[in-house]
Amino acid sequence: MSNSPVDQHAAFLADVLKGLSSPQPSIPCKYLYDATGSELFEQICKTPEYYVTRADLALHEAHVAEFANLIGPGAHIIEFGAGSGIKTRKLLASLETPRAYTPIEISAAALAASTRDLSRAFPEIEIRPLQADYTQLIRAKDLALDPPAQRKIVYFPGSTISNFTHSEAQTFLKRMRRIAGRDGGVLIGVDLVKQQKRLLAAYDDAAGITAAFNLNLLDRLARELDAALNREDFAHEARYNSDKRRVEMHLVARRDTQIELAGQEFTFSAGQSIHTENSHKYSVRDFRQLAESAGLKIQSTWKDPEGLFSMHFLRPMAPARRAPTQ
Ligand code: AVI
Repeated sequence: MSNSPVDQHAAFLADVLKGLSSPQPSIPCKYLYDATGSELFEQICKTPEYYVTRADLALHEAHVAEFANLIGPGAHIIEFGAGSGIKTRKLLASLETPRAYTPIEISAAALAASTRDLSRAFPEIEIRPLQADYTQLIRAKDLALDPPAQRKIVYFPGSTISNFTHSEAQTFLKRMRRIAGRDGGVLIGVDLVKQQKRLLAAYDDAAGITAAFNLNLLDRLARELDAALNREDFAHEARYNSDKRRVEMHLVARRDTQIELAGQEFTFSAGQSIHTENSHKYSVRDFRQLAESAGLKIQSTWKDPEGLFSMHFLRPMAPARRAPTQ
């Protein structure tokens, strides 16, 4: 599949037209992350309300030696996302004779920056960047090493798995299991269920950074798709959907308004919304069930002292043995 700017623009337009045409208008959350959105997300991670990043980092600080122990020597670490951050560095620094490190990232610029930084910091590790969309199928040959690693470990911190529906998350975990193979593993971060008040504050910080992050989608529509709209007619809202155990981000119409896009008019009455993101929260039990439905067994779980966030080390489950025939 080509990934040219023309194709990306066409896909963005098609996705927005489809999303705005549905009974509950929506826009896929991946479009939150243009350069401005990615910069705003970095700022969200520093807000006092957004506990996720701090709890994730604290777990790495407290338990990285245990992660490394479970991973073992000679591993090929495959990170979903460009891991130039502190967590990746901590992990790589703790491993025993790692065989290689592959960040998988769609943005060429982010991948180049991560490869440059990590090659400098870890000259002894073979860094093998792969420019690809990690939510899609990754070909085994793109991860093959000669000589092969002792085991492959998929590393996915930060709880981006929360942004998938349960069925997408299951498919995604199955792909991780396939990459890890029989002898490998998966080290993954998962945000936990907690008090609604705490969750809503994390997704609607007092400084308004999450609001700006959400509203930036409308700026993208205007700037990149030439949509006619009034940004001021919409407000950011974080909602907790207790049935689905997820925080939802919406852009809610403050008054009757419309968006004109590609010759179509989408009308919104005051109070109607565009759904822009889900962030699912799991109990350890829920996540265990999800992982097992994808053929992965939890070997170890770590939680921070407040029980806000979790990390899990998963191993592929052995295929069920057939009952011997008489
Ligand atoms: C990237 N992802 C794990 C974040 C989350 O918490 O779901 C995205 C985010 N959206 C608003 N704040 C953070």
